[in-house]
Amino acid sequence: MSVPFGVDTGRLGVQKSQVNYFLQLVRKENNAMTDEKRQKDSGTNAVPRHVAIIMDGNGRWARKRGLPRLKGHEQGGESVRAVLRACRKTGVKYLTLYAFSVENWIRPKSEISGLMSLLVRFLKQDEHELHENKVRLHVIGKMEDLPKAVQKEALRVIRATEGYDGGHLILALSYGGRAEIAGAARQIAGKVKSGEIKPDDVDEKMVARHLYAPGIPDPDLLIRTSGEMRVSNFLLWQISYSEFYFTDVLWPDFREKEFIEAIEEYGRRSRRFGDIE
Ligand code: FPP
Repeated sequence: MSVPFGVDTGRLGVQKSQVNYFLQLVRKENNAMTDEKRQKDSGTNAVPRHVAIIMDGNGRWARKRGLPRLKGHEQGGESVRAVLRACRKTGVKYLTLYAFSVENWIRPKSEISGLMSLLVRFLKQDEHELHENKVRLHVIGKMEDLPKAVQKEALRVIRATEGYDGGHLILALSYGGRAEIAGAARQIAGKVKSGEIKPDDVDEKMVARHLYAPGIPDPDLLIRTSGEMRVSNFLLWQISYSEFYFTDVLWPDFREKEFIEAIEEYGRRSRRFGDIE
Protein backbone atom coordinates (compact mmCIF):
# COMPACT_ATOMS: atom_id res chain seq x y z
CA MET A 1 0.00 0.00 0.00
CA SER A 2 1.45 3.39 -0.92
CA VAL A 3 1.52 6.30 1.50
CA PRO A 4 -0.17 9.33 -0.05
CA PHE A 5 2.50 11.99 0.32
CA GLY A 6 2.04 15.37 -1.29
CA VAL A 7 -1.73 15.73 -1.35
CA ASP A 8 -2.69 19.04 -2.92
CA THR A 9 -5.29 20.40 -0.50
CA GLY A 10 -6.29 23.23 -2.82
CA ARG A 11 -7.29 20.87 -5.61
CA LEU A 12 -9.17 18.60 -3.24
CA GLY A 13 -11.24 21.50 -2.01
CA VAL A 14 -11.15 20.32 1.62
CA GLN A 15 -9.80 21.87 4.81
CA LYS A 16 -6.07 21.37 5.32
CA SER A 17 -6.75 20.14 8.85
CA GLN A 18 -9.10 17.48 7.45
CA VAL A 19 -6.42 16.25 5.07
CA ASN A 20 -3.74 16.23 7.79
CA TYR A 21 -6.05 14.22 10.00
CA PHE A 22 -6.64 11.86 7.12
CA LEU A 23 -2.93 11.45 6.35
CA GLN A 24 -2.27 10.65 10.00
CA LEU A 25 -4.84 7.89 9.77
CA VAL A 26 -3.28 6.46 6.63
CA ARG A 27 0.23 6.48 8.10
CA LYS A 28 -0.96 4.95 11.32
CA GLU A 29 -2.71 2.27 9.28
CA ASN A 30 0.29 1.53 7.11
CA ASN A 31 2.59 1.19 10.08
CA ALA A 32 0.42 -0.88 12.32
CA MET A 33 -1.69 -3.17 10.17
CA THR A 34 -1.15 -6.55 8.66
CA ASP A 35 -3.76 -7.62 6.11
CA GLU A 36 -5.11 -10.22 8.53
CA LYS A 37 -5.38 -7.74 11.38
CA ARG A 38 -7.08 -5.20 9.14
CA GLN A 39 -9.86 -7.66 8.31
CA LYS A 40 -10.52 -8.30 11.97
CA ASP A 41 -9.89 -4.77 13.20
CA SER A 42 -12.75 -2.73 14.56
CA GLY A 43 -12.24 -0.53 11.48
CA THR A 44 -11.91 2.65 13.50
CA ASN A 45 -9.37 4.98 11.87
CA ALA A 46 -8.64 2.41 9.17
CA VAL A 47 -8.44 3.02 5.44
CA PRO A 48 -10.53 0.48 3.51
CA ARG A 49 -8.46 -1.93 1.50
CA HIS A 50 -11.29 -2.51 -0.97
CA VAL A 51 -13.97 0.01 -1.98
CA ALA A 52 -16.87 -1.03 -4.22
CA ILE A 53 -19.08 1.60 -5.84
CA ILE A 54 -22.57 1.58 -7.34
CA MET A 55 -22.16 4.58 -9.65
CA ASP A 56 -25.72 5.88 -9.82
CA GLY A 57 -27.32 9.10 -11.01
CA ASN A 58 -25.76 9.75 -14.43
CA GLY A 59 -29.16 10.03 -16.10
CA ARG A 60 -30.54 12.43 -13.48
CA TRP A 61 -27.40 14.56 -13.69
CA ALA A 62 -27.95 14.93 -17.43
CA ARG A 63 -31.72 15.54 -17.14
CA LYS A 64 -31.18 18.34 -14.63
CA ARG A 65 -29.08 20.09 -17.29
CA GLY A 66 -31.38 19.32 -20.24
CA LEU A 67 -28.68 17.07 -21.73
CA PRO A 68 -28.91 13.59 -23.28
CA ARG A 69 -28.33 10.73 -20.82
CA LEU A 70 -25.07 9.84 -22.52
CA LYS A 71 -23.58 13.17 -21.41
CA GLY A 72 -24.22 12.05 -17.84
CA HIS A 73 -22.39 8.80 -18.52
CA GLU A 74 -19.50 10.75 -20.07
CA GLN A 75 -19.17 12.90 -16.96
CA GLY A 76 -19.49 9.69 -14.94
CA GLY A 77 -16.40 8.50 -16.79
CA GLU A 78 -14.55 11.58 -15.49
CA SER A 79 -15.57 10.61 -11.96
CA VAL A 80 -14.12 7.14 -12.59
CA ARG A 81 -10.78 8.76 -13.44
CA ALA A 82 -10.92 11.05 -10.39
CA VAL A 83 -11.78 8.22 -8.01
CA LEU A 84 -9.03 5.99 -9.41
CA ARG A 85 -6.51 8.75 -8.65
CA ALA A 86 -8.06 9.29 -5.22
CA CYS A 87 -7.56 5.59 -4.47
CA ARG A 88 -3.85 5.99 -5.10
CA LYS A 89 -3.65 9.07 -2.92
CA THR A 90 -5.50 7.52 -0.04
CA GLY A 91 -3.98 4.04 -0.20
CA VAL A 92 -7.14 2.15 -1.25
CA LYS A 93 -5.76 -0.84 -3.11
CA TYR A 94 -8.87 -2.43 -4.66
CA LEU A 95 -11.63 -0.52 -6.43
CA THR A 96 -14.66 -2.32 -7.88
CA LEU A 97 -17.01 -0.31 -10.11
CA TYR A 98 -20.50 -1.39 -11.12
CA ALA A 99 -20.34 -0.17 -14.70
CA PHE A 100 -23.05 -2.34 -16.30
CA SER A 101 -25.44 -4.82 -14.70
CA VAL A 102 -27.12 -7.88 -16.23
CA GLU A 103 -30.35 -5.92 -15.84
CA ASN A 104 -29.02 -2.91 -17.82
CA TRP A 105 -29.44 -4.79 -21.12
CA ILE A 106 -33.13 -3.72 -21.16
CA ARG A 107 -32.11 -0.05 -21.63
CA PRO A 108 -32.55 1.62 -25.05
CA LYS A 109 -30.10 0.28 -27.63
CA SER A 110 -28.61 3.73 -28.21
CA GLU A 111 -27.77 4.14 -24.51
CA ILE A 112 -26.22 0.67 -24.36
CA SER A 113 -24.05 1.26 -27.41
CA GLY A 114 -23.02 4.69 -26.04
CA LEU A 115 -21.97 3.08 -22.75
CA MET A 116 -20.04 0.34 -24.55
CA SER A 117 -18.20 2.95 -26.65
CA LEU A 118 -17.33 4.83 -23.45
CA LEU A 119 -15.89 1.66 -21.98
CA VAL A 120 -13.76 0.99 -25.06
CA ARG A 121 -12.56 4.59 -25.01
CA PHE A 122 -11.68 4.34 -21.32
CA LEU A 123 -9.74 1.10 -21.87
CA LYS A 124 -7.80 2.65 -24.75
CA GLN A 125 -7.18 6.13 -23.40
CA ASP A 126 -6.55 5.32 -19.75
CA GLU A 127 -4.49 2.18 -20.14
CA HIS A 128 -1.27 4.18 -19.74
CA GLU A 129 -2.39 5.31 -16.26
CA LEU A 130 -2.79 1.68 -15.25
CA HIS A 131 0.73 0.90 -16.45
CA GLU A 132 2.24 3.99 -14.83
CA ASN A 133 0.77 2.99 -11.49
CA LYS A 134 1.07 -0.79 -11.84
CA VAL A 135 -2.69 -1.20 -11.56
CA ARG A 136 -4.11 -4.56 -12.63
CA LEU A 137 -7.43 -4.68 -14.45
CA HIS A 138 -10.00 -7.39 -13.72
CA VAL A 139 -13.48 -7.83 -15.19
CA ILE A 140 -16.27 -9.63 -13.36
CA GLY A 141 -19.55 -10.54 -15.03
CA LYS A 142 -20.75 -12.31 -18.15
CA MET A 143 -17.97 -11.11 -20.40
CA GLU A 144 -19.25 -13.27 -23.22
CA ASP A 145 -22.40 -11.07 -23.42
CA LEU A 146 -20.40 -7.93 -24.20
CA PRO A 147 -19.87 -6.64 -27.74
CA LYS A 148 -16.75 -8.10 -29.34
CA ALA A 149 -14.96 -4.72 -29.31
CA VAL A 150 -15.37 -4.42 -25.53
CA GLN A 151 -14.29 -8.03 -24.96
CA LYS A 152 -11.22 -7.54 -27.15
CA GLU A 153 -10.07 -4.33 -25.42
CA ALA A 154 -10.82 -5.64 -21.95
CA LEU A 155 -8.94 -8.91 -22.55
CA ARG A 156 -6.01 -7.02 -24.02
CA VAL A 157 -5.70 -4.74 -20.97
CA ILE A 158 -6.34 -7.61 -18.53
CA ARG A 159 -3.41 -9.49 -20.10
CA ALA A 160 -1.17 -6.44 -20.33
CA THR A 161 -1.62 -5.65 -16.62
CA GLU A 162 -1.79 -9.13 -15.13
CA GLY A 163 1.64 -8.93 -13.52
CA TYR A 164 0.82 -5.80 -11.52
CA ASP A 165 -0.04 -5.48 -7.84
CA GLY A 166 0.24 -1.72 -7.25
CA GLY A 167 -3.57 -1.51 -7.26
CA HIS A 168 -6.54 -3.42 -8.65
CA LEU A 169 -9.37 -2.01 -10.74
CA ILE A 170 -12.28 -4.43 -11.02
CA LEU A 171 -14.93 -3.52 -13.58
CA ALA A 172 -18.29 -5.22 -13.14
CA LEU A 173 -19.66 -5.62 -16.67
CA SER A 174 -22.87 -7.48 -17.48
CA TYR A 175 -22.61 -8.36 -13.81
CA GLY A 176 -25.25 -9.86 -11.54
CA GLY A 177 -24.64 -11.13 -8.02
CA ARG A 178 -27.25 -13.90 -8.23
CA ALA A 179 -25.85 -15.09 -11.57
CA GLU A 180 -22.37 -15.16 -10.01
CA ILE A 181 -23.51 -17.31 -7.07
CA ALA A 182 -25.56 -19.58 -9.37
CA GLY A 183 -22.47 -20.01 -11.57
CA ALA A 184 -20.38 -21.02 -8.56
CA ALA A 185 -23.07 -23.52 -7.49
CA ARG A 186 -23.16 -24.96 -11.02
CA GLN A 187 -19.38 -25.47 -11.12
CA ILE A 188 -19.35 -27.06 -7.68
CA ALA A 189 -22.28 -29.36 -8.59
CA GLY A 190 -20.32 -30.46 -11.66
CA LYS A 191 -17.33 -31.35 -9.50
CA VAL A 192 -19.51 -33.31 -7.07
CA LYS A 193 -21.10 -35.18 -10.00
CA SER A 194 -17.72 -36.10 -11.46
CA GLY A 195 -16.51 -37.32 -8.06
CA GLU A 196 -13.76 -34.67 -7.82
CA ILE A 197 -15.24 -33.49 -4.51
CA LYS A 198 -17.81 -34.72 -2.00
CA PRO A 199 -20.92 -32.78 -0.86
CA ASP A 200 -19.33 -32.46 2.59
CA ASP A 201 -16.36 -30.62 1.06
CA VAL A 202 -18.62 -27.72 0.09
CA ASP A 203 -18.11 -24.83 2.49
CA GLU A 204 -17.98 -21.02 2.32
CA LYS A 205 -14.36 -21.00 1.24
CA MET A 206 -15.12 -23.31 -1.63
CA VAL A 207 -18.04 -21.19 -2.84
CA ALA A 208 -15.83 -18.07 -2.64
CA ARG A 209 -13.17 -19.83 -4.74
CA HIS A 210 -15.71 -20.35 -7.55
CA LEU A 211 -16.80 -16.71 -7.81
CA TYR A 212 -15.62 -14.50 -10.73
CA ALA A 213 -12.53 -13.07 -8.98
CA PRO A 214 -11.51 -15.45 -6.19
CA GLY A 215 -8.28 -13.68 -5.21
CA ILE A 216 -9.88 -10.29 -4.48
CA PRO A 217 -10.64 -9.57 -0.81
CA ASP A 218 -14.25 -8.71 0.09
CA PRO A 219 -15.12 -4.99 -0.07
CA ASP A 220 -14.65 -3.15 3.22
CA LEU A 221 -16.77 -0.24 2.04
CA LEU A 222 -19.69 -0.14 -0.41
CA ILE A 223 -20.63 3.31 -1.72
CA ARG A 224 -23.83 4.12 -3.60
CA THR A 225 -24.38 7.56 -5.04
CA SER A 226 -27.56 9.46 -5.98
CA GLY A 227 -29.63 8.89 -2.84
CA GLU A 228 -30.88 5.40 -3.76
CA MET A 229 -30.56 2.89 -0.93
CA ARG A 230 -30.46 -0.44 -2.66
CA VAL A 231 -27.86 -3.10 -3.38
CA SER A 232 -29.22 -3.87 -6.88
CA ASN A 233 -27.76 -7.36 -7.25
CA PHE A 234 -24.18 -6.15 -6.68
CA LEU A 235 -21.57 -8.43 -5.04
CA LEU A 236 -24.25 -10.19 -2.99
CA TRP A 237 -21.86 -12.78 -1.57
CA GLN A 238 -18.93 -10.42 -0.98
CA ILE A 239 -20.68 -7.58 0.87
CA SER A 240 -21.93 -9.62 3.81
CA TYR A 241 -19.74 -7.60 6.20
CA SER A 242 -19.09 -4.44 4.16
CA GLU A 243 -19.84 -1.02 5.58
CA PHE A 244 -22.46 0.83 3.48
CA TYR A 245 -22.18 4.51 2.60
CA PHE A 246 -25.02 6.26 0.80
CA THR A 247 -24.78 9.80 -0.50
CA ASP A 248 -27.21 12.06 -2.37
CA VAL A 249 -24.40 13.25 -4.65
CA LEU A 250 -24.97 12.11 -8.24
CA TRP A 251 -22.13 10.01 -9.68
CA PRO A 252 -20.89 12.64 -12.19
CA ASP A 253 -20.41 15.02 -9.23
CA PHE A 254 -18.64 12.44 -7.07
CA ARG A 255 -14.94 13.30 -7.20
CA GLU A 256 -11.89 13.26 -4.89
CA LYS A 257 -13.45 15.38 -2.17
CA GLU A 258 -16.56 13.20 -1.97
CA PHE A 259 -14.45 10.03 -2.02
CA ILE A 260 -12.31 11.26 0.87
CA GLU A 261 -15.47 12.11 2.84
CA ALA A 262 -16.62 8.51 2.40
CA ILE A 263 -13.23 7.17 3.50
CA GLU A 264 -13.28 9.40 6.58
CA GLU A 265 -16.77 8.20 7.44
CA TYR A 266 -15.55 4.61 7.12
CA GLY A 267 -12.74 5.43 9.56
CA ARG A 268 -15.36 6.41 12.14
CA ARG A 269 -17.26 3.14 11.84
CA SER A 270 -16.88 0.30 14.31
CA ARG A 271 -16.59 -3.10 12.60
CA ARG A 272 -17.28 -5.99 14.90
CA PHE A 273 -17.91 -8.92 12.52
CA GLY A 274 -20.45 -10.32 14.95
CA ASP A 275 -18.14 -9.86 17.95
CA ILE A 276 -18.64 -7.34 20.77
CA GLU A 277 -16.69 -4.11 21.24
C1 FPP B 1 -26.14 4.36 -13.42
O1 FPP B 1 -26.71 5.63 -13.61
C2 FPP B 1 -24.93 4.24 -14.22
C3 FPP B 1 -24.71 3.28 -15.15
C4 FPP B 1 -25.71 2.24 -15.48
C5 FPP B 1 -23.49 3.27 -15.95
C6 FPP B 1 -22.21 3.61 -15.27
C7 FPP B 1 -21.23 3.92 -16.30
C8 FPP B 1 -20.32 4.90 -16.29
C9 FPP B 1 -20.04 5.75 -15.13
C10 FPP B 1 -19.57 5.13 -17.55
C11 FPP B 1 -18.13 4.98 -17.56
C12 FPP B 1 -17.59 3.79 -16.88
C13 FPP B 1 -16.30 3.47 -16.94
C14 FPP B 1 -15.78 2.34 -16.16
C15 FPP B 1 -15.34 4.22 -17.79
P1 FPP B 1 -28.15 5.73 -14.26
O2 FPP B 1 -27.97 5.84 -15.74
O3 FPP B 1 -29.01 4.59 -13.84
O4 FPP B 1 -28.66 7.08 -13.66
P2 FPP B 1 -30.18 7.47 -13.31
O5 FPP B 1 -30.64 6.52 -12.22
O6 FPP B 1 -30.05 8.88 -12.81
O7 FPP B 1 -30.97 7.35 -14.56
